[in-house]
Amino acid sequence: MKEFYYNILVSKEDLADRKEDIDNICKLLKAGKKLVLYAPRRYGKSSIAKNILPDEIKKKNFVALYFDFMGVQSIDDVCVRLSYGISQGLSHYLPSKNFFEGLKKVLKNMAFSIEPDTLTGEISFTIATKEGRPPALLTLLKSMVQIAETYPCLLLFDEFQDVHFSKDILGQMRSELQKLKNTPMVFLGSKRQLLSQIFQSNHSAFFQFADEYVLKPIPIEEWEPFFDERVKPKKIKLTHDALVELVRLSLDVPNTICEIGSYIQGHFENQKIDQKDLFILVKELLESKAEGFQYQIQQLTESERKVLTALAVNGWTKEIQSKKFQNQTDMSLSGIKKVISKLYRLGIIEEENLSYRVSNPLLGLFLQTHRR
Ligand SMILES: Nc1ncnc2c1ncn2[C@@H]1O[C@H](COP(=O)(O)OP(=O)(O)O)[C@@H](O)[C@H]1O
Ligand SMILES: [Mg+2]
Repeated sequence: MKEFYYNILVSKEDLADRKEDIDNICKLLKAGKKLVLYAPRRYGKSSIAKNILPDEIKKKNFVALYFDFMGVQSIDDVCVRLSYGISQGLSHYLPSKNFFEGLKKVLKNMAFSIEPDTLTGEISFTIATKEGRPPALLTLLKSMVQIAETYPCLLLFDEFQDVHFSKDILGQMRSELQKLKNTPMVFLGSKRQLLSQIFQSNHSAFFQFADEYVLKPIPIEEWEPFFDERVKPKKIKLTHDALVELVRLSLDVPNTICEIGSYIQGHFENQKIDQKDLFILVKELLESKAEGFQYQIQQLTESERKVLTALAVNGWTKEIQSKKFQNQTDMSLSGIKKVISKLYRLGIIEEENLSYRVSNPLLGLFLQTHRR
């Protein structure tokens, strides 16, 4: 029986829809394009970038390098992520025969150590100076360029907007990466405002460096066969209205849709589930997660909790400037703005076209039903 997966990276056969997106993206990458892949959190970006794209476009002697910049706060963080991505990518893609020679071609001025794993036959190697620190930013970037000039290459930069804190790092990255005219690259991100500042603002080093591709919400017609395949073996019939409601409560977030799907698959059998049943089972699911949610809420300040609860009640909220929102939160506009910008930076809320919502739809539902 096929399963629902959530909170983890998935492969192609575990994705609903997205065939057309993947085809479109691959076509662009094969033509050597550079893309900004935007979607809110938990829309499948990392899965597509890490688990699918390299396989789809690989050719002879191919190397894909994947860098995750989630949460980086300093130049040191960035260097650690870069050296990790380079060492992982090279150990995965370079043939083990003549591995050392292959490395020497691309890792100039860089200290590295190789340890063959006698059990798996794989080679693990690490890039680090004698003191155990990552090499300097420019050294790492130059190696990345060297790799892409030596092998057909795909460069993937996940949560790239998190590098926005340093103009200097972005500047150095741009001046090295622009040497690679025909190397396909994907810059992934889940924070639209910050991504736009990087790629659309003419003061930015990455101004118009890459073309935007947006992953849109998956239509209900695509969720239908996906659910059928996974609940039919348990003789469950989810009515159309129930599925529509499930997707609506999940605010279109695929991860949440799959989490509820997994709950249904694990807790029911021989049953028809209509809209009313769905409400009840979502409530049960929320109760089973209550402790975790309470803990998350306790980490918030009083005003953060107020703003988050108001967003949870409203769903997508455009009118954060309005009197209504100020009444709902019992806070001043400047206070609201400050809290919103912090919650946004922390990834607790999402923004799109100046509308905001709680990032995790289940936490939003929990807040709605557990208002103090
Ligand atoms: N098209 C899809 N079909 C089914 N599940 C999906 C789809 N897209 C995303 N998911 C769900 O989202 C989860 C997180 O995916 P991930 O690649 O980490 O997203 P992102 O990088 O956008 O945050 C997966 O575990 C899966 O449950
Ligand atoms: Mg991701």
